[in-house]
Amino acid sequence: MNHQIIFDVELLRRYDKSGPRYTSYPTAVQFNAGFTEADYRAQAQRSNTTPPRPLSLYFHLPFCDTVCFYCACNKVVTKDRKRASPYLERLHREIALQAELFDRARTVEQLHWGGGTPTFISHEEMRQLMAVTREHFRLRDDDQGEYGIEVDPREIRPETLAVLRELGFNRLSMGVQDFEPAVQKAVNRIQSEAETFAVLKEARALGFRSINMDLIYGLPHQTVASFARTLEKIIGAGPDRLSVFNYAHLPEMFKPQRRIAADDLPSPQEKLNILQLTIERLTQAGYVYIGMDHFARPDDELAQAQRNGTLYRNFQGYSTHAECDLVGLGITAIGMVGDCYSQNRKTLEDYYAAIDAGQLPVLRGIVLGADDKLRRAIITQLICHFALDYDAIERIHGIRFAEYFAQELADLGVMQQDGLIAMDESSIRVQPAGKLLIRNICMVFDRYLREKQEQRFSKVI
Ligand SMILES: C[S@@+](CC[C@H](N)C(=O)[O-])C[C@H]1O[C@@H](n2cnc3c(N)ncnc32)[C@H](O)[C@@H]1O
Ligand code: SF4
Repeated sequence: MNHQIIFDVELLRRYDKSGPRYTSYPTAVQFNAGFTEADYRAQAQRSNTTPPRPLSLYFHLPFCDTVCFYCACNKVVTKDRKRASPYLERLHREIALQAELFDRARTVEQLHWGGGTPTFISHEEMRQLMAVTREHFRLRDDDQGEYGIEVDPREIRPETLAVLRELGFNRLSMGVQDFEPAVQKAVNRIQSEAETFAVLKEARALGFRSINMDLIYGLPHQTVASFARTLEKIIGAGPDRLSVFNYAHLPEMFKPQRRIAADDLPSPQEKLNILQLTIERLTQAGYVYIGMDHFARPDDELAQAQRNGTLYRNFQGYSTHAECDLVGLGITAIGMVGDCYSQNRKTLEDYYAAIDAGQLPVLRGIVLGADDKLRRAIITQLICHFALDYDAIERIHGIRFAEYFAQELADLGVMQQDGLIAMDESSIRVQPAGKLLIRNICMVFDRYLREKQEQRFSKVI
């Protein structure tokens, strides 16, 4: 695969519009309350029979000790560590309820603790959570599963990493964002380089693999020069992967963001310059651009999966485990089981009420139809591999690509003229200038967006 990316400011500006990140298709906007616990149960049961796939478990641990003002994650901010206990009690019960639905022979190939801040809970609570999981699901004991956790270096106590390793975690992702004091102060996240790199060093020594660091560009007081300093420090430490997220300032949607002054944010032009710098520096330093905010060293399994054509995308971003049914546990968690997506209730109160009544805390979801599955396959292929061969899709989904997608192919004509993609009668290849605009290319195949646009258009007329 050609790893080149071209940063074309004029194209980026022209195609600049908000769009889904396609961690699912249909996206969460389409999940609806007509999908109930009974639907989820039926899908889970069916998934045991239609050649059963391995499992991936996602646990949402929402608590954070302090709030970072930019944060758009689903979290509960509290200094009271005791608040974790009633939550974990319910989580244990949800594990038991969920496990009843899945054949015990199905191994857990992938497991992830996300947040919030999973390391908010005590070592004892971590041990208990893993023990309850192991009691109900078939976890791997050979360190060959992909068992990962998100850690906040400010929340690592002596022994925390050793405990996590002992519990079976072998992947780790840590929040960094930016090392500049002025930026850290403006976002209420003071985190030293020393504590961050100490975690990286210890994690490596303990045998964690594919260690990731999260950075954010577009934060208050950031400039090209300031972000360059952060990048050089990160490159010097050399994590296996980097996620470089784009900060979108949406204070109406995310309350903590109201404490960020809009005047302190870099201009759109400065943000583009920071992005350009990031891509140039990381690729010069040997990182491969995987797509959608993610970079990895060429020997990392994410880059290998992209080369082998086995890369996949789900709620945790890119993944090497395409073949799993994903069970989401805890508030707001999203699952992907059989032919459905489902999301759990979003507040502690609602979640506790469902579990206390002995119910699965399903809030909403969607059962995918044949058209959804077809479009999901196309979007996944494009976003993971920047290429799409029609014959594989035609064989699996029983369609004639040129007929079924006549309108989409016509719409892609403009992108071809602009040099984002190359098309012939059997394939689409995303070009180096189109890689940063992969969402826009995927959006052409999104039926729900298309219907919304058509509705809007007919209203205007
Ligand atoms: C759940 S946190 C990671 C674990 C831990 N809570 C921490 O902060 O270290 C997930 C990541 O999402 C990113 N993030 C959160 N809010 C964001 C936003 N508004 N825009 C871009 N990235 C954001 C940050 O990079 C953060 O590290
Ligand atoms: S970035 Fe992490 S630590 Fe900060 S508020 Fe969000 S989830 Fe909590």
